[in-house]
Amino acid sequence: MSAVKILEGIYWVGAVDWNIRNFHGHTYTTSRGTTYNAYLIVDEKITLIDTVYGPFAQEMIENIRQIVPPEKIDYIVANHVEMDHSGALPEIMKLCPKAKVIGTSKCKEGLYRYYYGDWDFQVVKTGDKLKLGRRTLTFLEAPMLHWPDSMFTYIAEDALLLPNDAFGQHYASSERFDDEVDAPSLMEESAKYYGNILWPLSALVLRKIEEVQKMGIPIKIIAPSHGIIWRKDPMKIVNAYVSWAKNEVKPKIVIVYETMWGSTEKMAKKIAEGVADSGVSVKLFDVNQTDRTTVIKEMLDAKGYIIGSSTHDNDLLINIAGFLEFLKGLRPKNRIGCSFGSYGWAGGATGSIEGYLKKAGVEIAQQAIVARFAPDKDELKKCYEYGKSFADIVKKKG
Ligand code: FEO
Repeated sequence: MSAVKILEGIYWVGAVDWNIRNFHGHTYTTSRGTTYNAYLIVDEKITLIDTVYGPFAQEMIENIRQIVPPEKIDYIVANHVEMDHSGALPEIMKLCPKAKVIGTSKCKEGLYRYYYGDWDFQVVKTGDKLKLGRRTLTFLEAPMLHWPDSMFTYIAEDALLLPNDAFGQHYASSERFDDEVDAPSLMEESAKYYGNILWPLSALVLRKIEEVQKMGIPIKIIAPSHGIIWRKDPMKIVNAYVSWAKNEVKPKIVIVYETMWGSTEKMAKKIAEGVADSGVSVKLFDVNQTDRTTVIKEMLDAKGYIIGSSTHDNDLLINIAGFLEFLKGLRPKNRIGCSFGSYGWAGGATGSIEGYLKKAGVEIAQQAIVARFAPDKDELKKCYEYGKSFADIVKKKG
């Protein structure tokens, strides 16, 4: 995609990765692809804010060339060291070897360990400013949003915030702005992004938003490093982040299970029926049929989790185990859960599920329900009641 003018003298010069389907070493399913956003500021000093993933270096360089010869770049701001934003740095530095690279001290350390470049590096910290001419950049360290090295760059003259990973989405599109794309899809991808990447960092997200609010700086545009640019309503994504970071929930239950011969699935469907008949919204997922990223997105605003597995080798099945291991790392708060599953000769899965849920910080609100071999009519009725009683607890606690 060609360079796009964001404002007079500021251009998007990034790359759209239409085909990527797995991100972060298969921890994230990018069903809509992604973008790597780099921004070029043309002032007395020519400045590039972030780069793109290495395989897209030439696309970024061609986009820069549409605006200015890359050799003229004076500064490259590295808001974040991770390779999806720094991967093209060695290539662009070949064209402007005298450019100064700017970032936090941890960014300097990370970039050196990634690329071993002999580059002129200027370390900055919160409040430091860099005058480009008509515009001045202000830096704000944002550790753990997404890595310890991360920072935001702010341009007061335009009330433009460049927060790198924060407020992004994995959303490939030919459009660049929030008012040009389908709003529900955009929020869906934003929720997936928050749930699967930033959820465990919620306390830091809240603190950083409060810090920015206390600074009283106006923000008219938020231009993240993935996905679209928020210019129509930047507070929409800020408010959504506040809600997600506070672990605000709805009376909603997500059922996730893995089944061996279909018995656990029968139980899952009856439990779901009981939940629905209690008037609580329910989503049901076979962990082998829906990507984990989507399931986590549904869990982001749900009060209750019901997890099921058949027993295999006295324990739970391996894909639901992997799912729960991932959930444990996300550290959801203010959630309740319970478990179910079938077994043949000896059980074991539900105990393990409860162990995972507790480690994830989920309160066990109801004793597990199990069925031997295949659930009979009475047991299916009990599953239905199990869903109803859990839904009642969700309504009470939600
Ligand atoms: Fe988009 Fe933390 O990198």
